[in-house]
Amino acid sequence: MTPSPETSLPDLPDPPDLPGLPGLPSQGLAPADVLDRLEVLRAGDVPHEGGRLFAYVFEHADPVLTRLQHAAHAAFSAVNMLDPTAFPSVAAMENDVVGALLDVFGAPPEAVGTFTSGGTESCMLAVKSARDSHPAARTTGGGRPELVLPESAHPAFVKAAEWLGLDVVSVPVDAVTLAPRPADVAAAVGERTCLVVASAVSYPHGVLDPVAEIAEVCRDRGVPLHVDACIGGLLLAGRRALGEAVPPFDLAVPGVASLGVDLHKYGYTPKPASALLFADRERRRAAWFGYGRWAGYPIVNTTIQSTKPAGPLAAAWATFQYLGRDGYLRLSEAQRAATRTLLAAVTATDGVRVLGSPAADVVAIAADVDAAGRPAFDIGLVDDVLRARGWHLQAQLAYGAAPASLHLTIDAAAAATAGDLAADLAAAVAEVRDAAPVELPAELVERLRSLEPADVPAAFGELLTAAGLDDDSGGFAVDARVNALLNLLDPDVRRVVVALVADLVFTPNRAG
Ligand SMILES: Cc1ncc(COP(=O)(O)O)c(C=O)c1O
Repeated sequence: MTPSPETSLPDLPDPPDLPGLPGLPSQGLAPADVLDRLEVLRAGDVPHEGGRLFAYVFEHADPVLTRLQHAAHAAFSAVNMLDPTAFPSVAAMENDVVGALLDVFGAPPEAVGTFTSGGTESCMLAVKSARDSHPAARTTGGGRPELVLPESAHPAFVKAAEWLGLDVVSVPVDAVTLAPRPADVAAAVGERTCLVVASAVSYPHGVLDPVAEIAEVCRDRGVPLHVDACIGGLLLAGRRALGEAVPPFDLAVPGVASLGVDLHKYGYTPKPASALLFADRERRRAAWFGYGRWAGYPIVNTTIQSTKPAGPLAAAWATFQYLGRDGYLRLSEAQRAATRTLLAAVTATDGVRVLGSPAADVVAIAADVDAAGRPAFDIGLVDDVLRARGWHLQAQLAYGAAPASLHLTIDAAAAATAGDLAADLAAAVAEVRDAAPVELPAELVERLRSLEPADVPAAFGELLTAAGLDDDSGGFAVDARVNALLNLLDPDVRRVVVALVADLVFTPNRAG
């Protein structure tokens, strides 16, 4: 692991020490100095403009839209969505945005929705709605309600289950398609099932689950289906608008009770912005929280947050108005052109392949397998070479049927850079294909393989040393060596390790 670039803040004169609020500068700084310091901090981040980042950020590459989004966000930054009677603008904007999404996703006339703070919140509220709508949750002698979850589904659903007191019934994915099979979903549904989840598309591999077939299973068994279209909803809608035949995946499919779609992904709106659409009002109300037993203002929260910023909603509303259908069509075309260039490069490059059959512009690249069925080389090494050339893909770990891979969310900005990335990808694969894999000492490998979650805190120092992270640099850039280590670990051990890393990253800066 290489440390992230050093950031050093400009020196400022030492002000006299004042009592109180010791962590703040004793004398307030001039706005220009504050902004300079923020700029220095940002210089250490991966660049989110320029079409070289293939995760985390969706770049539309339209400077006019960027300025409009900033202005809309700023205009509403002080508005509190807590109370739409005090701020009717928020209800007006939310109704416009949700209404437009219901139209895009084939919702019946009685369907409704809620603007949320991101994909995770949409997933969590869908689970809460299902839990509180489902009679089985209360009628099975105290047994916990169950969530039927393909293993390719986003971990936000596991988080929801853990926080909301549900058991997860995991459904494996097919080793070739990386999608769950409807028969396996049917086998997982039981009398305590309160919700089944399908992805449209899955984050790791961009695979569209067989939503219509899974919905049929759900209808037969009388359980609701939630479609997680957080990353894929507007992506697939864009492909549909371009005239492609996209398998049914939305609220037009009977049996789909709710659908989550992020605006801050392929809707190209500023973060955080998502929507959770429901087939009916009862289900939406079951996601909400209302309360009367206190002396304060009347409480009804439509999301997890109570006080919430209106800036992201205003920016999303402005984006819809500015882009219009033709604008989204142009962005979809740009994404598709970039994806075609990159997929052609993977096909033409010996040693790598695309995993599953991605539905559109979210793809994962893995090493070919050798005669024994193992990856022929360490794909993480390709990531290292590409990073050195200024590209930022996302290394993904092996799990279940899926080998380690490199993830790309391909956005409109990539249309201008895909040709260069394609050339660098081919060169990087050629460079590392025959290189020695990441060398880890045999006894370390053995020890890590046998590590139990409870052993992790004691073994953490050794792990950091093995990863090359014990140099106090404070940087945690992940490279092939770190991923090779993580790939060795049992998934439950990984979970503890990453929490301990986060524990180190978030070490507060104290004044004294
Ligand atoms: C399919 C899917 N669901 C849920 C999420 C969680 O979204 P967020 O990171 O906005 O909370 C993601 C994020 O990538 C996703 O791809």
